[in-house]
Amino acid sequence: MFLRHSWYVAALSSELNERPIARTILGEHVAMYRNFEGRIVALSDTCAHRGYPLSLGTVVGDKLVCGYHGFTYDAEGTCVAVPGQDRVPSRLAVRTYPLVELGVWVWIWMGHDEPEMAKLPETPWLLESEEWAVVSGVAKIDANFGLLVDNLLDLSHETFLHNGSIGTPEVATTPLEVEVDDEIDMVNVYRHMNDVICPPFYSNTTGLEGRIDRWQDIEYFPPGYYKLNSRIAPVNQPPAPDGSDHHAFHVKIFYGLTPSTDTSVYDFWALSRDFCVDDRDIDGFLEKMQSSVVQEDVDALNILQRRINGGQEIAEVSIKIDRGGLSARKMLERLTEEELARQS
Ligand code: FES
Ligand SMILES: [Fe+2]
Repeated sequence: MFLRHSWYVAALSSELNERPIARTILGEHVAMYRNFEGRIVALSDTCAHRGYPLSLGTVVGDKLVCGYHGFTYDAEGTCVAVPGQDRVPSRLAVRTYPLVELGVWVWIWMGHDEPEMAKLPETPWLLESEEWAVVSGVAKIDANFGLLVDNLLDLSHETFLHNGSIGTPEVATTPLEVEVDDEIDMVNVYRHMNDVICPPFYSNTTGLEGRIDRWQDIEYFPPGYYKLNSRIAPVNQPPAPDGSDHHAFHVKIFYGLTPSTDTSVYDFWALSRDFCVDDRDIDGFLEKMQSSVVQEDVDALNILQRRINGGQEIAEVSIKIDRGGLSARKMLERLTEEELARQS
């Protein structure tokens, strides 16, 4: 079962233009586009006439024209014109979905009820600003949503799967701490590594060389929003008591986990940094590096899912590093029970 009463990342802002795109989100076919007025629209990707994908249609002004026989829909999903007759069958419409564009990401509300704006994450770091530079991307993984949750909640895998980019031996050897906040539905997993090797991901961007203090603080808000606060600093220069932290470089790594089907998930990512914000070379380096890190995760999860698809029973053994993932699973179970209770 998918959690529908929630916001999910549906697209990168840069993906939406007058050429509609198709996404399958929580098993539903969705078409999205930006009309000529700049408004972003998401609607069912199934024409009310014969079911042709509306994402194969054409945006004309503020409307979308089906690419098969020309049924025409406005931004509310109402069919406003059909070919060969003046009268449009009454109440002919397709479902639309609320969208909100916040910086580089576009969020979609998948519930059948009114969208809960209070549940929309606040993400000022995803807006280009004088303080933050942002790069972003998306990958599709042919694996179950839960496998991606497990992956992101345990970063000790960096040492092995991402060796050479962000993984160093200390990530796996440093114990992690887990805190669960059932009030705001958040799982916090953190690992503070002091006096450790600086991986290329950060040495090539911050200019720090040799040993560093490296902190990873994960905030996971199930089901679909994940933020990793990464602090990279010269050794033994902690933040000041007032919270100021001028010695350090900060990178926030965001993931939007959006289930597509039972065996596929979109892995939206964005990376914000508070240093060299005008440096396009660093943008390019980080974009390339992060894309290849994500691809390593994609490859690993695809392999796991293929094993599951092959019918192989996987008996799990959990250890200390799995505490974050297990806490996330538990919270997802509770949220699922709450959603079922709301429906009944
Ligand atoms: S299927 Fe869309 S107009 Fe016929
Ligand atoms: Fe990874």
